[in-house]
Amino acid sequence: MLSFLTPSLLTLLLPLTASALPFRPRAVEDKIAAAFYTGWHAGDVPLTSVSWDKYNTVIYSFALTTPDVRTLSLNGSDASLLPEFVTQAHAHGVSAHISVGGWSGSKYFSSHFQSAENRTAFANTVLGLLNEYELDGVNFDWEFPGVQGIGCNVVNPNDTANYLALLQEFRATVSGKKITVSATTPLLPFRNTNGQPSSDVSEFAKVLDFISIMDYDVNGSWSPRVGPNSPLDDSCAETSYQLGSAASAVKAWHAAGFPLNKTVLAVPSYGRSYYVAPSDAFANNTKDLAPYPPFNKNKCPLGDGWDNSTSVDACGVSQPSGGSWNFRGLVAGGLLGDDGKPVQGIYYRYDNCSKTPYLYNENTQVMISYDDAESYAAKGQFIEELGLYGFVLWEAGGDYDDILLSAIQSTSGFN
Ligand SMILES: *[C@@H]1O[C@H](CO)[C@@H](O)[C@H](O)[C@H]1NC(C)=O
Ligand SMILES: *[C@@H]1O[C@H](CO)[C@@H](O)[C@H](O)[C@H]1NC(C)=O
Ligand SMILES: *[C@@H]1O[C@H](CO)[C@@H](O)[C@H](O)[C@H]1NC(C)=O
Ligand SMILES: *[C@@H]1O[C@H](CO)[C@@H](O)[C@H](O)[C@H]1NC(C)=O
Ligand SMILES: *[C@@H]1O[C@H](CO)[C@@H](O)[C@H](O)[C@H]1NC(C)=O
Ligand SMILES: *[C@@H]1O[C@H](CO)[C@@H](O)[C@H](O)[C@H]1NC(C)=O
Ligand SMILES: *[C@@H]1O[C@H](CO)[C@@H](O)[C@H](O)[C@H]1NC(C)=O
Ligand SMILES: *[C@@H]1O[C@H](CO)[C@@H](O)[C@H](O)[C@H]1NC(C)=O
Repeated sequence: MLSFLTPSLLTLLLPLTASALPFRPRAVEDKIAAAFYTGWHAGDVPLTSVSWDKYNTVIYSFALTTPDVRTLSLNGSDASLLPEFVTQAHAHGVSAHISVGGWSGSKYFSSHFQSAENRTAFANTVLGLLNEYELDGVNFDWEFPGVQGIGCNVVNPNDTANYLALLQEFRATVSGKKITVSATTPLLPFRNTNGQPSSDVSEFAKVLDFISIMDYDVNGSWSPRVGPNSPLDDSCAETSYQLGSAASAVKAWHAAGFPLNKTVLAVPSYGRSYYVAPSDAFANNTKDLAPYPPFNKNKCPLGDGWDNSTSVDACGVSQPSGGSWNFRGLVAGGLLGDDGKPVQGIYYRYDNCSKTPYLYNENTQVMISYDDAESYAAKGQFIEELGLYGFVLWEAGGDYDDILLSAIQSTSGFN
């Protein structure tokens, strides 16, 4: 197949592309309709149940960094599914990407990116993985450059500059030009050497097809009060509660030189729960839910069937339950009906500031900040109004009956 190539071209190509060049031409899409697919939930969400026809990109999660720069690990996400994932995606005309890193898999980015030698080796490792599985794109999900994430990540003040150097090198390779390269990011632009958000990330925009800004985990068990997991806006909140939202994040990245039309909003199909006493949950002796009530910090509620009462994290540290409730879990748990609306007896408040809903179960004293069709429609409208590049759901399997997906799709500029 390569016989027409001159030997000199061959030597140029071979180091980075192994044998063939399987990458399909990059699809030109007006907007990205995407979701992450988590291999570890395949038992409940088999590949055949993904709404392939409603996406143009699906991102397999995760390939984890390992101490060896030449190895990425698919342990934990069921590696045996990856070939079938790619086959199914391609059969539906959907681009198949893989996400590298994630909360549990970002330990070694910093050391892998620190030297030119390691960057070259790591770029080859990623390209090898893409080649082997015939993937169309890579999504780097470093949580987080220049900032500690899970607790045992390698961190260096030069992380952001080293990250850029890796992406530039990756993009300069023969294969790297053909694939879609994206990065999942925190609300604020990557930190500079002083630990502050970078004021200029325009060089990243030259080498990335898009960023997906994570508008989730903004508040949780670590927050002083119950707050929105995924606020669309926070400018209407009390100043002390203005710590980030989709609106402030997009504004910050844009101000630092990242184009709106390469910015994708990453949205959660899950919410976070808190123990709230009825005296705090309700306002003014009514049955109206109070905004941002205090909660019991000594007790972590168990979330839905995908939560775990105790688990050991990637740092080897034992963790209590996370308290996450996926939209599907809220339905399965009888808190929401088949229509995605709270069942009778469950109290509900739509926070007009963050544009997100809350529900409260007085019997269990659990309050949940989550996303529903209304909040997803508002996020979609925001995407449309600002001319963003689209959305990506964390995660495909968290939805129920495509209620969230249909809502965001109907308002964000898809037909
Ligand atoms: C994946 O898990 C297997 C079995 O536990 C182990 O032998 C292997 O070393 C792991 N691979 C990586 C890259 O961590
Ligand atoms: C290369 O990466 C490995 C693994 O992350 C790390 O141990 C080593 O120190 C790195 N080398 C340099 C020169 O940064
Ligand atoms: C950061 O990069 C500068 C310039 O390349 C270098 O002098 C310095 O040693 C690096 N710092 C660390 C902690 O690696
Ligand atoms: C949300 O969390 C942040 C800290 O991450 C905190 O400053 C803020 O007050 C929280 N919001 C509420 C309503 O507690
Ligand atoms: C994206 O926006 C930039 C300005 O930020 C503009 O130069 C470019 O033409 C736009 N691209 C598309 C495809 O609309
Ligand atoms: C409770 O009463 C105060 C004072 O009248 C009012 O400002 C607030 O909006 C009320 N809260 C709710 C949730 O009705
Ligand atoms: C919960 O976590 C433990 C320890 O990490 C693990 O062995 C177990 O399989 C997990 N259970 C579920 C349901 O994920
Ligand atoms: C919520 O805000 C919108 C405009 O942002 C307004 O039209 C609507 O009346 C508000 N709803 C409530 C219940 O305050």
